[in-house]
Amino acid sequence: MSKEWRLETKAIQEGYKPKNSEPRVLPIVQSTTYKYNNSEHMAKLFDLEVEGHMYSRISNPTVDAFEKKIASMEGGVGALALSSGQAAITISILNICIAGQHIVAASNLYGGTYALFTNTLTKMGIEVSFVDPAASEEEIKAVFKDNTRVLFAESIGNPGVNVLDFKKFVKVSREMQVPFIIDNTFPSPYLCRPIEHGANIVVHSATKYIDGHATSVGGIIVDGGNFDWNNGKYPELVEPDPSYHGLSYTESFGEAAYIVKARMQWLRDLGACLSPMNAFLMHKGLETLHLRMERHSENALKVAEYLEQHDKVAWVKYPGLANHATHELARKYLPKGCSGVLTFGIKGGREACTRFQDSLKLIALVIHVGDVRSCVLHPASTTHRQLTDEQQIACGVQPDMVRLSIGIENIDDLLEDIEQALNV
Ligand SMILES: Cc1ncc(COP(=O)(O)O)c(C=O)c1O
Repeated sequence: MSKEWRLETKAIQEGYKPKNSEPRVLPIVQSTTYKYNNSEHMAKLFDLEVEGHMYSRISNPTVDAFEKKIASMEGGVGALALSSGQAAITISILNICIAGQHIVAASNLYGGTYALFTNTLTKMGIEVSFVDPAASEEEIKAVFKDNTRVLFAESIGNPGVNVLDFKKFVKVSREMQVPFIIDNTFPSPYLCRPIEHGANIVVHSATKYIDGHATSVGGIIVDGGNFDWNNGKYPELVEPDPSYHGLSYTESFGEAAYIVKARMQWLRDLGACLSPMNAFLMHKGLETLHLRMERHSENALKVAEYLEQHDKVAWVKYPGLANHATHELARKYLPKGCSGVLTFGIKGGREACTRFQDSLKLIALVIHVGDVRSCVLHPASTTHRQLTDEQQIACGVQPDMVRLSIGIENIDDLLEDIEQALNV
């Protein structure tokens, strides 16, 4: 039995494990298909009786290595890579929630997720209720209905950067007997591992810190294998699946039932697969995740402290600052650092924000976070512009808010750039 490695070692050694004389570095298996010696083996693959690859929409050796690495880092029983974070979130919910059912979500979500829930899932017959993540246990439980099937939140909300009270959300989900799905994009598994705090399913926009270099769009779902699907609410996981010869996912795959079903139904039918090339880049990105996250966090804290004392700055939000509303939660759940994203307001409102953005020379105007290169964005006029003013405020987006994603450049160069842009 192999020893349980620490996270930094897993980041480098898990996933691809070459055998004798095989390539040292993960190969990019750029093949749609696989060859078999006889039809019996192929039939067993189709019946899910033996493991192996059939077709790269469903699985591929390079993608598989990426899935195994992240599952190990998050402490899950399995993972499913997808073509984007949005695809991962969508499938994580559709896998256990059908038309006529309901989900409960924290309100401070990434704009794309908020729009997915309010528009698209609603059109598909899935109703959503939002709760303030700071609400009490009783208030959150009050929005649950008999047909609620998911509780969803982000570990650090985007862009409000509030750290989630895991204990409260996990307690509610256990009492209400629904799985707790957490978007862990901002901390990445290096800074926070939600399954250790009791979450059941973890999703990521792997496009962000996992890739880390802004080269590829991708997403991933990790199954904690720690939810009892046989509680009467999830018959699709327990009862025979007619699309797989009457196979029961819980009976055949035990604690990995959820993630196998996500692959064999949703990835098979919707086809939102990750390409081998992007899986290779993400697998490579993970190899330096621990070093990058340390520097992202260290630089972001220094920028936040600098902005806090600047007379042109109205306010700063970064969970690493002692005056942040969720600082105590950050100390508890993010002891190694609070990641690279922070928001702040500039005196002079929207106009001053635009002037600041346009005057930066090193920090670039880019719709992204989690890149080694620092970037800046004004969420109200970009990522959240489809939302009404009221919806923006509910998501934590004020008109004078600038979002910085601090990279891993030299801190003095970053501070000098910010200083000159604030003084224009
Ligand atoms: C927290 C969070 N979740 C999900 C997404 C969506 O991911 P993707 O852009 O990879 O589809 C994003 C994108 O910015 C995000 O910030």
